[in-house]
Parts: sequence; C-alpha cells; structure tokens
Amino acid sequence: MTDTPGGVSRESASEELCVELAEGLRLDVKKHLIDRGMSVLGMRGSGKSYTCGVLAEELARIGQPFVIIDLMGEYYTLRERFPVLIASLGEQEYADIRGLRPEHARELAHKIVELGLSVVLDLARATMAEKLAFLADFLEAFYGAEEEHRRPCVLIVDEAHRIAPERGLPKLDVIAEAQKKAAYWFYEVAATGRHHGIGFVVAVRRPAEISKAILTQAEVKIIHKLVDPTDLKRLFEEGLPRELADFVRALEPGEAIVLGLGEPRTVKIKQRLCSHGGGTPLVKPAETPDLLEAIRALARALGLEAGVSEVGLPEEAPPPAPERAPEPIPAPVQAPEERPSEVLAEVPAVELDVREFDYPAEVVADYHARLLIYRAMDELMPTPAHRYQALSFLLPSEEALSKLALGLAREGWGPRSARAGGRGVTMAIHEARGLRVGMVASKAEGRVVLTLVVSAPELRALERALKELEELVISMAPGAECMRR
Ligand SMILES: Nc1ncnc2c1ncn2[C@@H]1O[C@H](COP(=O)(O)OP(=O)(O)OP(=O)(O)O)[C@@H](O)[C@H]1O
Ligand SMILES: [Mg+2]
Repeated sequence: MTDTPGGVSRESASEELCVELAEGLRLDVKKHLIDRGMSVLGMRGSGKSYTCGVLAEELARIGQPFVIIDLMGEYYTLRERFPVLIASLGEQEYADIRGLRPEHARELAHKIVELGLSVVLDLARATMAEKLAFLADFLEAFYGAEEEHRRPCVLIVDEAHRIAPERGLPKLDVIAEAQKKAAYWFYEVAATGRHHGIGFVVAVRRPAEISKAILTQAEVKIIHKLVDPTDLKRLFEEGLPRELADFVRALEPGEAIVLGLGEPRTVKIKQRLCSHGGGTPLVKPAETPDLLEAIRALARALGLEAGVSEVGLPEEAPPPAPERAPEPIPAPVQAPEERPSEVLAEVPAVELDVREFDYPAEVVADYHARLLIYRAMDELMPTPAHRYQALSFLLPSEEALSKLALGLAREGWGPRSARAGGRGVTMAIHEARGLRVGMVASKAEGRVVLTLVVSAPELRALERALKELEELVISMAPGAECMRR
C-alpha cells in the first residue's frame, strides 16, 4: 500500500470547495463528488454512516448544499452545529417540517433546490412502501429542479441498497412498483446528474446487494471493513488489489481504504463534530435566522404546519468526543427492518453485566442510550407509531439493579435478560399498556450509571411511563439521582 502517490490531496484544486474526511483525504466537491461520485462501503458497524456524517459536516462547513436520504433517522444531530433543515416523512418529533406525505415530494424537491437548502430527509417513521413512493417522486423532481436551476447539490443516500437492490426479494406489487420508479430515478441521478450539478454519494453495506449499474457510477470508493467473499470479489472487479483482501477484513470502525484517487491508501476518518446516530438526547432549538425563514417558506409551500426541530445549536459547543469510544460494539447487527426479534434472547434470570468505563457519567449515559436505541430498535419500537425517550440515573451501587427487576415484575412488567451490541441488558415489556423498556448499566466515576430507554404507543403514555419508572428506580435504589431525561 502506498501513501498518496499521485495523492488524494494533490488532486484537489480549489481550497474553498474541498472537504476533508481524514488526514490527507481531501475531496474536491466538483471534481470528486459531482463529476465522479463516491460510494462508502462496509459491513454493519464499520463506519459508513459516521463517514457520511463527517462528509455532511464538512459540506455544511463550506456552505455546499446537500440532501441526505436518511432511512434510519440517524442524521438529525447535524443540527447540533449546522443550519440543516430536517424534514420527515410521517411524524418525527425532532423534525422542522414533519408529516410529509408522498404527494409533497415534488414541491419539497423544487423548494430545496430553489432555496439552496441543506436538508436531512428523515424517512425513519414511514413504511417501506411510503418511503419508496416518496423517493420516486422526490428524485425525479430533484433531478428536474437541478436541470432547471443548476445549483450544485450533493445527494447522500445512506442504506442505498434498500432503494436500488441488485436483486430484490419478492415484494408486494405496490412496493415493487414504487421501487422500480425510485431505482430508475436514482440511476438517472447517478449516471447523468453530474451534468446538472448533482453530487452523488451512496453508502452501502454489501457491494453485491446494490444495483451494479448504480454502484459503478461512483468512481471514488471508501471501503470500510468487509469480510464477505462475494463482496470482496465484486470489489476486486472494481479495482481493489487482491492482496489487500486480508487488510479490508481486518479494518477497525472508521478505518478505510480509498480507491479511485491514485494508488489505494488507508485512512482513518476523522471525528464528528456533532453526535452520531439516533440515540442522543435532544438539545435546545437552533435559532438560525435563515434556516427559520426557510422552514416557514417550505411549510407555506407545502401547506403544512411549521415547527422547529428540538435538535439545535447548543449554547456552548459540546466537548469533543473522547479519543476512544467507551464501547466496543463488536457484534454486527442488522438494520431494524431486517433484524429478527431474536436480538434479545429470553433467559429465566435477569442479569446485567456492569462494566467499568473511565469516562464521565454523561458520556457513558449517551453511549447507553445509543446502544439501546440503535441495537435494540426492533424490540423497543414494535410499531412505527411508538415514541421513545432515554432516562439516566446515577446509583450508589449495583445491588439496586436486581431489586429494580423485582420491582418491575411487581408492577406488571415482564423483565428478562437480553443482549444488544455485545452488552448484557434488561428488556421489560408491559403487554397490557404496550410499553417497552430497555436498560443497561455501567460503572463510571465510582458510581453506577443506569440508562432506561422507554417506548410507548403515544406521547401521553410515554410521559406517564417515564414518571412511573423514575419513581420506581428511586424507590428501589435509595440515593439514586436522575441525571436527565
Ligand atoms: N471515524 C470514526 N471515528 C470514531 N468512531 C467511529 C468512526 N466510524 C465509526 N465509528 C464507531 O463505529 C460505530 C458504528 O459506525 P456506523 O454507525 O457508521 O456504522 P455503519 O457502517 O453505518 O453500520 P450500519 O450498516 O449498521 O448502519 C459508531 O457508532 C462509532 O462508535
Ligand atoms: Mg449506517
């Protein structure tokens, strides 16, 4: 492996229109993202979404508009630092524009291009049929609007294999139709969008799963860890030297090999400025005047009510993320839609493994919330209507944890031990009320940090459950302090 001979950074032309994803990995927006296109590949947990998040932050930093197609609800945290509009299909409480339906897709696409907005298009709350129907119209209109306005915009599509799979499983007619149309416009954007100024970035788990016609449009490739022989074979065809196969299999999260920019080389994608993923507790609203104006204009155009995301710029910049994350999250997991509900196996006795971390309790609580939301999503969210919220406590000792399980059982919950992301957790379900809770505990700063992620079929039920669980923890663990909701 060589280190940038003919190098990535040397290819970059203009300073202002470059994004930096890693030390020495600078990409020119026009030359690399618009003219050539980029793919981010890698197995579950290898760092694809993180890399897309870094890219979005960099684009926001240089003022280059972008649209992220976010199937999992992972990118709203960009608002912690940047004036990015969050629009959601269905009701997503943190979105600025929520309640979108497929019939809004065209108008939304036109307005985004006309106003030069950067947008997270959050589709996590919709069914697959709705997502695809929306995207089909959105991509067609986006392509048309770019053709008309020629205002460069980078389209980032995470989980792109779900929109344009190479070979799909048999589907209901309504899904198959919508997917055909979405994949058609997706291909059109990838293949010819550059003529209208559309930059194209796709993140995909398995190169063998996404439409070959689309993947081959992306000349720059950021390859995170991959182990599947079929995927590696596919990449050999696309220029990955065979002798690097073992290297790709052994990459750590965030590490990658870059192809399509001179000689292959390794990089470590830099740290994000905003938090990563969907589990971070919400912070204060942003007050970015232009963005607020854009939200109102967009809401007017779409005939929807304008809200303002609860996610926004904190009053003070958050402290940088720790050098080494308190995880590891070793086991690759499937996305919620694919994951069977086996993630959490039933065992008779409730046990929590309480590991020790040398991090502030706040950081550990954040990690807990993300672990539970991301890794146990299908258990916690049995229906798309379910709402969730994290709740963290500082407990004086571990003993309280087993008492808490007993207390839950007494109150009609069915607690059981489970695993998520390599950690022992407790899941408890209150069948009668449709409530769910996931719990994980760790030691930090000499005390036990306990985090609960509670979900309920609607907001009022969630509020009530949170209050009850807070009281239960405090009664079972005298001296417990509630850190935050
Ligand atoms: N560049 C990085 N720096 C630090 N940590 C990282 C980096 N990339 C990934 N990680 C860690 O790896 C975890 C998984 O990354 P990410 O969510 O991006 O995986 P993914 O490839 O998108 O997985 P999936 O296919 O399940 O969506 C992150 O939560 C983060 O802790
Ligand atoms: Mg991801």
